[in-house]
Amino acid sequence: MEICILGATGLVGTELLGLIARAWPGATLHLFASRARKISVAGAPFVVRAASDLEGGDAPRGDLAFVALDDHHSAHYCPRLLELGYRVVDKSNTYRLDPHVPLVVAGVNHSEVREGTRLVANPNCTTIPLTLALAPIHRRWGIASVQVSTYQAISGAGAATLDTFLEGSKTGYDRADRLGSNFDPSGYAGNVVPHAGNTDDSGFSSEELKLVRESRKILAADDLSISAQCCRVPVAVGHYEQVWLTTKRPTSLENLETLLEDGARSPWVKLWRGASGEGLSSLATTQHRDHALAGRMRPQLDDTTGTQYCMTVAADNLRLGAATNAVRVAASWFPAVDPSLAATPS
Ligand SMILES: NC(=O)c1ccc[n+]([C@@H]2O[C@H](COP(=O)([O-])OP(=O)(O)OC[C@H]3O[C@@H](n4cnc5c(N)ncnc54)[C@H](OP(=O)(O)O)[C@@H]3O)[C@@H](O)[C@H]2O)c1
Repeated sequence: MEICILGATGLVGTELLGLIARAWPGATLHLFASRARKISVAGAPFVVRAASDLEGGDAPRGDLAFVALDDHHSAHYCPRLLELGYRVVDKSNTYRLDPHVPLVVAGVNHSEVREGTRLVANPNCTTIPLTLALAPIHRRWGIASVQVSTYQAISGAGAATLDTFLEGSKTGYDRADRLGSNFDPSGYAGNVVPHAGNTDDSGFSSEELKLVRESRKILAADDLSISAQCCRVPVAVGHYEQVWLTTKRPTSLENLETLLEDGARSPWVKLWRGASGEGLSSLATTQHRDHALAGRMRPQLDDTTGTQYCMTVAADNLRLGAATNAVRVAASWFPAVDPSLAATPS
């Protein structure tokens, strides 16, 4: 098997290297980034070529390509990879709402990846865990509405932003100052800021609209009433989401918890039973990197209908929220040796 990673030196690309070794051991890798160089990941050396080499007549052909580039470069390289014969999983926003391209969460709608499918879009890092937790509830009782508030880690913005954040955190906490006045009020270090990029006339940012529109597409629920508010918190890895939902048909807390801890009906979800959510944190996601963590399930205080609930969903944004889902999606075409990287749990 010949596998190509575009963006192999980035945060998501680096995670893909480890997962591919588990899913398809022995595969031949073709790695690309902005420029050629040698890299070392977990002590193993890799040769990276410049992505511009893909333009030439001697570009390597192959079976499967993961594209972990920004939107602009994805739009440029995905068509070329398809031309070279690869089946492509694209991690950017470029094709997610294209009606001709399936937007897939393994464990929710992976049946949309068929033998003839050549290009699949991987959803945003908040959408993947949210839809994994919502899909079983939606299948069983229907979901009428969802409100989500996200607390997103800095690594979601890529390696350069993460490095700036880590450096800023060090220098910001350097001075003994209980008010944190050493931090830049417009920066990420020591701060919580709105995830406000590309806020449009609706008043919602692109990150908020991704969560809304992608969830509707994945759950095949055009009528789903869903709203989101997103912010970034000073955490390196691990997105945390607070969710308020209303089911179409009444249920109970016990029914919801039983459903979400059933791996067959709620694939890739790990439930923390109980309202307090003890142990459910953004950093807990780095111990359970390939699952959506769900917990703090409880009925809303004033609900008398059995339809209104609160819960928390968290996930490692680099793994479940990005690389792991991409590998599980591709496992629909090329079965993975490691069962934890199959499209659904065995
Ligand atoms: N980080 C997350 O949590 C997350 C989650 C879900 C989806 N995504 C999406 O996944 C994609 C990658 O994210 P990331 O966090 O891995 O980004 P990243 O850490 O910033 O890495 C970006 C990659 O793109 C490469 N690149 C930059 N300019 C290029 C060019 N002109 N030609 C070819 N390659 C170029 C970089 O190579 P160099 O090292 O040579 O610059 C690097 O390998 C983005 O679309 C992002 O939105 C990210």
